[in-house]
Amino acid sequence: MTEGSAAPDTAPDPAADGTAIEARAAELRSLIEYHNERYHTLDDPEIPDADYDALVRELRAIEEANPQLATADSPTQAVGGAVQSTFAPVTHELPMMSLDNAFDAAELQAWAERVAKGLDLDDAAAPVGYVCELKIDGVACSIRYERGELVLAATRGNGRVGEDITANIRGIDIIPNSLGPGAPAVLEVRGEVYLPIATFDALNESQEAAGLPRYVNPRNTAAGSLRQKDASITAGRGLAFWAYQLGVVEGGAGAPAPQLEGHGDALDWLDSLGLPVNPERRRVATIAEVSAYAERWLEHRHDLDYEIDGAVVKVDRLVRQRALGSTAKAPRWAIAVKFPPEERTTTLLDIQVSIGRTGKATPFAVLDPVFVGGSTVQMATLHNEDQVALKDVRVGDTVVVRKAGDVIPEVLRPVLADRPRGRRKWKFPKVCPACPSDLLRPEGEAHIFCFNPTCSAKRQTSIEHFASRGGMDIEGMGESRVALFLEQELIADVGDIFSIDWDRVSELEGFGQLSIDNLRAAIDDARTRPLARLLVGLGIRHLGPSGAELLSSSFADIDAIAAASEEQMAAIDGVGPTIAHSVAQYFATDEAAALVEKFRAAGVNLIGTPTSEEPKTLEGMTIVVTGTLDGFSRDGAAQAIKSRGGKNPGSVSKKTTAVVVGTEPGASKLTKATDLGVRILDEAGFVALLETGELPDAPDAPDAPDAPDDSGEAGEAGPPDEADAADGGGDATD
Ligand code: IVH
Repeated sequence: MTEGSAAPDTAPDPAADGTAIEARAAELRSLIEYHNERYHTLDDPEIPDADYDALVRELRAIEEANPQLATADSPTQAVGGAVQSTFAPVTHELPMMSLDNAFDAAELQAWAERVAKGLDLDDAAAPVGYVCELKIDGVACSIRYERGELVLAATRGNGRVGEDITANIRGIDIIPNSLGPGAPAVLEVRGEVYLPIATFDALNESQEAAGLPRYVNPRNTAAGSLRQKDASITAGRGLAFWAYQLGVVEGGAGAPAPQLEGHGDALDWLDSLGLPVNPERRRVATIAEVSAYAERWLEHRHDLDYEIDGAVVKVDRLVRQRALGSTAKAPRWAIAVKFPPEERTTTLLDIQVSIGRTGKATPFAVLDPVFVGGSTVQMATLHNEDQVALKDVRVGDTVVVRKAGDVIPEVLRPVLADRPRGRRKWKFPKVCPACPSDLLRPEGEAHIFCFNPTCSAKRQTSIEHFASRGGMDIEGMGESRVALFLEQELIADVGDIFSIDWDRVSELEGFGQLSIDNLRAAIDDARTRPLARLLVGLGIRHLGPSGAELLSSSFADIDAIAAASEEQMAAIDGVGPTIAHSVAQYFATDEAAALVEKFRAAGVNLIGTPTSEEPKTLEGMTIVVTGTLDGFSRDGAAQAIKSRGGKNPGSVSKKTTAVVVGTEPGASKLTKATDLGVRILDEAGFVALLETGELPDAPDAPDAPDAPDDSGEAGEAGPPDEADAADGGGDATD
């Protein structure tokens, strides 16, 4: 089970002054980005959706009450997960938007009324004409065909920039590599890659037969299968695809796109070109018919061989879609009607306690396996002692289980009518299940801890975390090897990883020369990881990647961070008091000091990337970068601007000093810069600006490439200003 929540302990004091609120907003952004990464990129959420939503709500409330604090790169503005680094980035020509949700009939009705108003229809009940579709629970992706041939496929990523997964998509049998007659010069189609339930079950059977762990659910397995570096693994997984949306369409040399009147026509056209389009789509006239469609599928969802988590309704006529436009995150012409999370009953077989890397003791339910929300659940967190008492679940009870956010299983309540007589209240164990230490609940804390620094469970989980993808990324150092090395006393903590006695490892069963060489190389590689990764790997409470990045760029090295006061750290924009307190507490311990010495002795990188020495040439300037630059990575360009005192938001506004344009720039940024008369610089101009702080002479500006013409595009193109607002993902180069 994962170590519990990094949700803030401190809520903002409503009477706090502006600086405190600003600091809280910055800290919330760091926390939300941390949880976004865990959910979207690592597929390993750490907190229930409800806790995550509370963080977003708090940030949104602060931003609404203090509009001056709202930033274009705030996670409240972003569409989805972060872009992963393994695959090459692909900038979506049209942003891949998200959908707003309606959770009940009243919210659906309210949406219909907004649509009617947006279309100037007097009668909200007037038949608008919708297309109803199933909401497939898979992974969104965009596939581009040129002259009928598949040339590029990308994940959604953060909505603006996804990952190039062309090789993986080519291996999905049901996706044609060539379209049928009538394909236009360019056709970009969007849809959902999913894993059919039967294929998922078969995959799990072979996992079990091979003694390997089961996959959790079809959605996560589809996501993991798509992200395989070796595309032949993807090809062997039996993924499938439903196309549900047109992206860019250009006529020209191939065949011209037909004049499409409606989204329903567009889907029929995709179907005719040989793309898989879901046959359960329906054109309907009224919102009452939409409701009936959603209700029917709520009842019949299990008749399908794929997971759905709702229905999607789209205004049919494309002129109406264009008239309605989009907000920063989602089109106004579509909405997802979400199904309520599924609930099932099962027997609570036992309540056990797991120890996380901070020593937190988390009770969890051991359940008679039950299929709920798309996967078999046999364990569910009970969070803490008070939660168990509050829910009053007792071993032997029939309990109601559901998936929180359809991801994390949760025990809701006991079915009291079914409680066998004589069941006793559960009592938290007094002793750690992994070592002989007492479990203690510090005053004012909701959680109980094992404080033994050498507790084997703590060691195991903290070393796993250190070596994990989000930390030092040491491939081959997973759960079973960590357990083996601990048991063999080859390591006692994360500091020992870099001085493992390889002669002893070679004597262990299952370690051939090749696996030793691979693991040694992975560990050597980790010595040079940026300091921020090391900080994340240490598992300091509340410190996620963005907080770690800020610390490592604000201080010279780990010694300076360890010596810094809470106030010094909290003064960094984006760190704040919760993170600062936790970091200071961590470095005050003898164990932390001993670890740092082990790292130093083993030649692990402890140097930060301080930015303070740069001359502050860009103070007061706001520089937006779009497209790819030769001499700077996306982060490098942002760093170069910020370290010189400049701001680097994700979108262009009238406050923008200059827009730096690389190759393949984002059309919306360019259009906006031109409209607002903002200076446009090429890379040479940018370098000169960084050095001198002065804008080069005007003729330097390159010709702005034409913005894509959206006349032939159905779908997600909103008015330019709205499309632009959507790129507030904080990307330096789009
Ligand atoms: S349309 C601009 N249609 O739901 C509209 N999305 O919560 C773009 N999804 O990112 C999406 N089935 O991954 C659309 N029939 C469907 C869908 C669908 C599943 C997913 C998609 C999207 C997410 C939004």
